[in-house]
Amino acid sequence: MADAAELKTAAARAAADEIRDGMRVGIGTGSTAEAFVRVLAERVSGGLSIVGVATSERTEALCRACSVPTVPLDECPELDVTVDGADEIGPGLALIKGGGGALLREKIVASASKRMIVIADGTKVVEMLGAFPLPIEVNGFGVFATYLQIRKVAASLGLSGDITVRKAGEGPFITDGGHLILDASFRRIPDPEALSRALLDVPGVVQHGLFIGLASEAIVAGSGGLSRIKP
Ligand code: 5RP
Repeated sequence: MADAAELKTAAARAAADEIRDGMRVGIGTGSTAEAFVRVLAERVSGGLSIVGVATSERTEALCRACSVPTVPLDECPELDVTVDGADEIGPGLALIKGGGGALLREKIVASASKRMIVIADGTKVVEMLGAFPLPIEVNGFGVFATYLQIRKVAASLGLSGDITVRKAGEGPFITDGGHLILDASFRRIPDPEALSRALLDVPGVVQHGLFIGLASEAIVAGSGGLSRIKP
């Protein structure tokens, strides 16, 4: 039976098969996206010509190490496709992302793309979002006030659970944009659209990890092979 790394690479290869010469490609963050970078690197060294846009400093560094060409999004603000992983893939291809802390740039890059292909192993597909704690990127100013407001809007939607500041070593995790992440363990998110709107109404919230209406397709690798899910 294939292990998790092999499944991620299988999904990454299938996504790389969609990349044609001359395409402008958003490149996600996380272990599955890293498998995609490695496959892309093989193809670039074989002559494939693309322009990549990385969704994090971490992905940018890997692309550089693998000789996958990248430019900043502002040099290439409209992309053909973004390939990225996800923490959960729910009904209608609503996603939870941000386990790697890159959700803001991931969302900006995905929304600048004509298509977003999600790559994952089968463990990421769920019937309802929320078992994975929802990452919420917040401004460092007034983080406790923001936390209290998030609790309030969540309660108004019947959601509760621990909300914790993500740590990195001794201190808080700091995103590429210089913000903090709150991880909200709501356990079940029956109405992702309503939660998305409510969170974005909180001034200290920079962005959250619910990706709704962005994914065009998910390529999911399981022990039985690859499956493709459309919204
Ligand atoms: C990073 C992300 C990742 O795509 C998500 O966390 C999945 O990561 P992995 O492929 O390592 O399971 O959203 O911010």
